Amino acid sequence: MIDSNFIIRYTDGLYATPANFAPTFEEFRDMFSSGQLRSKEWAVRELQNLDIVSHQSVIVVGCWFGTLGVMLKDAFPDIKLSLLDKDPRCQIFLSHLGYFTLLKDMYDHTYTEDIVVNTSCEHIPDIKGWLSLLSPKTTVVLQTNNFVAGKDHVSCVHSLDKFKEQTGLKEILYAGELKTPMYTRFMIIGKV
Ligand SMILES: C[S@@+](CC[C@H](N)C(=O)[O-])C[C@H]1O[C@@H](n2cnc3c(N)ncnc32)[C@H](O)[C@@H]1O
Repeated sequence: MIDSNFIIRYTDGLYATPANFAPTFEEFRDMFSSGQLRSKEWAVRELQNLDIVSHQSVIVVGCWFGTLGVMLKDAFPDIKLSLLDKDPRCQIFLSHLGYFTLLKDMYDHTYTEDIVVNTSCEHIPDIKGWLSLLSPKTTVVLQTNNFVAGKDHVSCVHSLDKFKEQTGLKEILYAGELKTPMYTRFMIIGKV
């Protein structure tokens, strides 16, 4: 079943955003690709299975143009959701969807949220260094992939075991992989 409301929110956002702040054609194509959307549905599904999200404060870092944030808020309406990205275009675009976005580097944020979501791990150079900024026992939802040809992909891994090593979480609640047409995505939900 097509969720027309979801699509309309995005097309409304595109109409409202000046072209130089909107996602490019390539970015829009990428964010609505099967690999990106299935990966985000997968994160929402596993969080529903674990039943750990209700009434929590949740931050999505490297939130991009907000697809996962919007899906999380739809699935868990009672969460306190924050979004963060260092790209000002994301802040401007998301403001037209009704979301405030913290405009900063994820390495510069003071983390107080219950759940920290980063599905852009392939984009950051020092994952353990970033995770060390979080308070002990914070729940994290992490995704990466093996798509080494991707733009700004600096930390790809080729197996779930390598991702476990790269993140070094103290406790793992869920770990798995998802094959998509262009790459394999890896996900770990756990605690630092
Ligand atoms: C291509 S996108 C997201 C792809 C990813 N697979 C996803 O949808 O979750 C990567 C995003 O991470 C953001 N980003 C990368 N490094 C960052 C950092 N250090 N702090 C904040 N945002 C960052 C970029 O600005 C971009 O919006």
